[in-house]
Amino acid sequence: MKGVVLAGGLGTRLFPLTKVTNKHLLPIYNKPMIYYPIEKLVEAGITDILLVTGGNSAGEFLRLMGNGKEFGLKHINYTYQEGEGGIAEALGLAEHFAGGDLITVILGDNIIEGNIHKAVEDFKRQKVGAKIFLKEVSDPERFGVAVLDGDKVIRIDEKPKKPATNYAVIGIYMYDGEVFDIVRTLKPSDRGELEITDVNNAYIERGTMTYEIIDGWWTDAGTFASLLRANTLVARRHGIE
Ligand code: DAU
Repeated sequence: MKGVVLAGGLGTRLFPLTKVTNKHLLPIYNKPMIYYPIEKLVEAGITDILLVTGGNSAGEFLRLMGNGKEFGLKHINYTYQEGEGGIAEALGLAEHFAGGDLITVILGDNIIEGNIHKAVEDFKRQKVGAKIFLKEVSDPERFGVAVLDGDKVIRIDEKPKKPATNYAVIGIYMYDGEVFDIVRTLKPSDRGELEITDVNNAYIERGTMTYEIIDGWWTDAGTFASLLRANTLVARRHGIE
């Protein structure tokens, strides 16, 4: 299993915090945001990692993390996304790195409390298809929203005005090697991006998508409110109220 951290995009919702720097370099309590998704992968035993970055200050990731010594790694792979063509476009840049292996993808602005080690082991046994992770939230209209029927996901609606459920699709995804063929079939959405939700819906149509509801808290950090929330949640874990 290989790991891909997606930290491209321009972070426009956090302007002017992101006017001269990259969103994923902003602090979450005592560390830069990008540390959290990388630590999650390493904690789950994934040590072969690609960071996809872009936008402002992309070179600073190399200065910050180098070969990954601080994370117990010997090497980190880097690649660059030009523009802001969407999460699925950024993922497409990982094809050569993945080389047909299973991958765990984490969005660079997603922070979770729990550990994904067991989920990684489960997906290694699943071998084919994809796996997504859900969390019940009070503001599902901000996210991809999963519609469920027992142990099956029926579909995912991206940022629906009237969400069918409260189950947000969090920014951790597991895929087999076919994901890159799916990315190639995508057309830009109304917001001009290749959507990760379209990738996930393609797996649902093929009948090879599984899901898990995660324990513990989860937040993104891409808006002022969620950036504050991420800081507060991590600070509390350090005993700061
Ligand atoms: O946080 C989970 C949500 O992330 C999901 O529920 C949604 O289905 C999914 O579309 C996504 O929603 P957002 O619209 O909030 O994603 P955002 O544009 O903020 O991008 C999240 C991260 O993805 C960002 O921190 C870096 C990476 N990204 C994003 C874009 C648009 C890239 O690497 N390249 C990109 O072009």
